[in-house]
Amino acid sequence: MSEVQPLLKQLSCLSGLYWVTVTSAFLHAGRGKNQSPGFQEIIKKTSLYSHPLIHHLMDPEAQKGDREDDNDKKVVAEIMARCFIPTLVTATSWEEFHFVGHEIRITEAMDCYGAVVWPSALVLCYFLETNVKQYNMIDKNVIEIGAGTGLVSIVASLLGAHVTATDLPELLGNLQYNISRNTKMKCKHLPQVKELSWGIALDKNFPRSSNNFDYILAADVVYAHPFLEELLITFDHLCKETTIILWVMKFRLEKENKFVDRFKELFDLEEISSFPSLNIKLYKAMKKNRRSA
Ligand SMILES: C[S@@+](CC[C@H](N)C(=O)[O-])C[C@H]1O[C@@H](n2cnc3c(N)ncnc32)[C@H](O)[C@@H]1O
Repeated sequence: MSEVQPLLKQLSCLSGLYWVTVTSAFLHAGRGKNQSPGFQEIIKKTSLYSHPLIHHLMDPEAQKGDREDDNDKKVVAEIMARCFIPTLVTATSWEEFHFVGHEIRITEAMDCYGAVVWPSALVLCYFLETNVKQYNMIDKNVIEIGAGTGLVSIVASLLGAHVTATDLPELLGNLQYNISRNTKMKCKHLPQVKELSWGIALDKNFPRSSNNFDYILAADVVYAHPFLEELLITFDHLCKETTIILWVMKFRLEKENKFVDRFKELFDLEEISSFPSLNIKLYKAMKKNRRSA
């Protein structure tokens, strides 16, 4: 199959769900004739607030890596092709994803970071699906932090894990909705949805003595927010000696990227895959100085 096909499919989707944003930006730009920005500029501005997958497709900077690594291009196209964006504009937006032989329908909202599916989530889902032998999820105890719309938790559940999906309180309604809709009668263990605000009430809500997670999953939890230290404390709190962290990191700003160095002070970090065209890396981590190490 041609490699451009999945990209063309996604580009055709752009004219659907996001035409409203782009069109209104054009109309707005047309009001002040002397200041109309070019098309790329409009896309850049609007895409700051529009969908992260689309942002990647429209932003030449984000695509720089495409020219650098053919293999990366191939796998990224395959990962992105798992997403279907409907061309019909409706009151509630949704997207469909294809993982583990299921059609997963995710309802999104455009008003906060956690309410859309980010490319890192797709990378992690793809990894879980294609590495079942090495990272078998069946009957494993799994917690996802910063679960957002719940796609990763849903895929882990469909793969047989016992999942706890967590996020900030304001995200839990939509998270619960997506998880229930996509896992009921389809999973061995019904996933749980729980509040976990990084660094807050950890001893009360997730006492160390009862934490027994085989895996901690995290997709795109490091960005310009003021809770990076709390995030690190949370990883440390949830992690036992045998826990494996699978963490997908999108590299954006230098300050946030320093988090990786802080993280390495507490955890042994191994880069498993890299997707230069997305500026994304997938890491496996375990607690430092384990007795079994
Ligand atoms: C960029 S989104 C990623 C969402 C999802 N993992 C994905 O990749 O599609 C970051 C997520 O972290 C959550 N988050 C941000 N700050 C948080 C905090 N202090 N405590 C808990 N979750 C937080 C957001 O609500 C959001 O769901």
